Amino acid sequence: MSKRNSTLLKLALVAMIFAAGVSLNWQSSFASQDLPPGKGVELANAKCVTCHEADLIMAQRLTKQGWTREVEKMVRWGASVNDAEKAILVDYFSEHFAPRKAAQPVALSSTERGKQVFEDKCLLCHEVDLVEQQRLGKPGWTREVEKMVRWGATVTDAEKEPLVEYLVSTYGPRPLVPKK
Ligand code: HEC
Ligand code: HEC
Repeated sequence: MSKRNSTLLKLALVAMIFAAGVSLNWQSSFASQDLPPGKGVELANAKCVTCHEADLIMAQRLTKQGWTREVEKMVRWGASVNDAEKAILVDYFSEHFAPRKAAQPVALSSTERGKQVFEDKCLLCHEVDLVEQQRLGKPGWTREVEKMVRWGATVTDAEKEPLVEYLVSTYGPRPLVPKK
């Protein structure tokens, strides 16, 4: 390799490493978000966004009791929060990060449960397109699921019904083209 070529190669490598570093930085600053404004946010920023980013907190959805336990846990882990501050923090977090209603398992409809089973159990051996190509009614999807179980899918009896329901509602027979 000529001297000039090897210099160019080194320059290119440096540029690549630099670009990778920049995009990593960009991603992490993009990922870390600020706590939403509200009563108690200054305290939360001062007491809670010191050892870790706010993302870790905002990913949680807890009840008031849950936030109390979480703050107490952080105090055991080293956060310096007195009782008066604890009350403000718990109020702030439980107002902004309360459990989402729809995220509770009891609220899942049968079709939503079926979708979960589908995503967990049916996309292990093949892509979704194989399934999308089929348009079947209830008896057809029941037979298809039973066939996949014989072939190795681990769908329990309790999961079978919501799964078939989901498949029929998503990949049911196409409506007939209306005649003129
Ligand atoms: C002394 C350091 C420190 C302070 C201050 C701190 N935390 Fe943490 N926190 C941690 C550590 C360590 C973890 C675990 C980190 C991980 O999993 O990456 C954590 C994790 C969390 C989690 C994720 C769930 C969990 O329990 O692992 C939440 C939510 C959280 N902290 C909330 C808070 C809140 C609210 C405050 C303010 C009261 C706070 N933290 C202050 C150290 C701290
Ligand atoms: C253990 C592996 C495995 C699992 C898990 C699995 N399948 Fe399959 N599936 C296959 C194989 C193998 C084929 C045939 C692939 C091919 O033709 O390329 C197939 C084909 C299909 C087809 C195309 C029609 C046919 O019968 O060939 C459909 C639709 C299908 N699977 C649906 C499902 C559904 C719904 C589930 C979840 C209950 C599921 N599969 C889980 C292995 C699996």
